[in-house]
Amino acid sequence: MRHAWNPGQYLKFGGHRLRPAIDLLARVDVARIDEQGPETVFDLGCGPGNSTRLLAERWPKAGITGVDGSAGMLEQAAKDLPGLNWVEADLNTWTPGEGADVLFSNAALHWLDDHAVLFPRLLAHLKPGGVLAVQMPGNYAAPSHMLIKEAMGPWRNKIEPVMRPDPVGELSLYYDALSPVASHLDIWETIYMQALEGENAAAEWLKGSALKPLLDVLDEEEAEAFFAAYSELTRKAYPKRPDGKTLYPFRRVFVVAKK
Ligand SMILES: C[S@@+](CC[C@H](N)C(=O)[O-])C[C@H]1O[C@@H](n2cnc3c(N)ncnc32)[C@H](O)[C@@H]1O
Repeated sequence: MRHAWNPGQYLKFGGHRLRPAIDLLARVDVARIDEQGPETVFDLGCGPGNSTRLLAERWPKAGITGVDGSAGMLEQAAKDLPGLNWVEADLNTWTPGEGADVLFSNAALHWLDDHAVLFPRLLAHLKPGGVLAVQMPGNYAAPSHMLIKEAMGPWRNKIEPVMRPDPVGELSLYYDALSPVASHLDIWETIYMQALEGENAAAEWLKGSALKPLLDVLDEEEAEAFFAAYSELTRKAYPKRPDGKTLYPFRRVFVVAKK
């Protein structure tokens, strides 16, 4: 993988980042599978293992595997949860081998392109009755994303080529891609009103996710200057409240498909 993900920066807002995973898991109805317990459960883009821990708690008898492209994230995950399986792989080409009962993915598949092909491909790897459950941020229209363009300034030539068009489609894209092959579909979106703690909270949030690939193409001095310019803009767009918190509304897209 091109970007060395930083578990420390990502976990800074661990609680807010995990809440949608909990909401997603609550909608995974594997009643048929639950009777025997699902045998094979994968966490795609498991990162430092926070979402994988939820899966292990829900299905303690299942074989649970976290898959991620970042060795640093997996190292952290294996340290915290030594009893689970961890696989380093690029999800663009990864397959589970034998059919899986559950493919779960929290805040990862937006790093992959062409969802109209990707989602049915993943569903095809499930056993009949198995479930694909995915949550992805859908926040490209928010000021925090728009302001990246404004902050690019003299570094535009380096940053623009690594900026991706919005990878998350309309909800109807997921319906159209999956309805011919899924036996049941549940698709929705939620805006979380996140009250973040700390200084420069909105920019710090983005630093652990969407800004990461952009900061990576700049040298240290440039990255610092770009982040300072971006922070100034986001502080205005997301001012600290009198109680010291920063409100950062965040839209997320959910897809649960049963084979
Ligand atoms: C935002 S983290 C999500 C971590 C975890 N699922 C959670 O809920 O906290 C996204 C993860 O996706 C991984 N990732 C992104 N693109 C990937 C790819 N093409 N193949 C494998 N992993 C990828 C990153 O390494 C990162 O650990």
